[in-house]
Amino acid sequence: SQKEEFNKALLTWYHQEKRDLPWRRTSDPYYIWVSEVMLQQTRVDTVIPYYEKFIASFPTMESLAEAEEEHVLKHWEGLGYYSRVRNLQAGVKEVVGNYESKIPRTRAEILNLRGIGPYTAGAVLSIAYGVPEHAVDGNVMRVFSRLFMIEEDIALPKTKKVFEQRVMDVIDETDPSSFNQAIMELGATICTPNPRCLLCPVRDFCTAFEEGKQEELPVKTKK
Ligand code: ADE
Repeated sequence: SQKEEFNKALLTWYHQEKRDLPWRRTSDPYYIWVSEVMLQQTRVDTVIPYYEKFIASFPTMESLAEAEEEHVLKHWEGLGYYSRVRNLQAGVKEVVGNYESKIPRTRAEILNLRGIGPYTAGAVLSIAYGVPEHAVDGNVMRVFSRLFMIEEDIALPKTKKVFEQRVMDVIDETDPSSFNQAIMELGATICTPNPRCLLCPVRDFCTAFEEGKQEELPVKTKK
């Protein structure tokens, strides 16, 4: 099928080309959570040393739950958006206190935690647990807008669910972790704002490339 051919091309490329990033050497859901919170606001190269130090200082959820907030915030200096790490610690305290230190395995449950929104929920569920769930951020919307010529305004909140549905239509159920990370990797290295389509492993599946409209997508009003 078209979906199988697409996933074969995407995942083969990902397995060959993926960057060796520290959070790709683990499937511990707590570590994936930490990495995704950092990556939401900051680029990969900057995050790497912060991630390494954070995990070294707070290797378990219990250790983060028990740490002084002031000490935790020290590990965020330079990353900015301190509310993110405050929410992360609050969410970890909820998991330790109310869930026997086990991060929930369903979207409905994990979304109840402080600091976990729709994107982080999907990232943790898919990457750590292999659950087929969408993890849609701005980069994923850029990739999908081009692949499927989705011309809806990505600045509108209601547009997000159009993309989430598209991801669920094509996600590789045999390896949702690699699927979501491959889409992130594509958005970070090839399907960039100025895309490098000649290097793209899935250009044969890309409607925007076929029509020469990759530079016109995604549609984004305001700002
Ligand atoms: N950006 C967001 N999540 C990421 C991940 N897991 N790997 C690389 N870049 C990312």
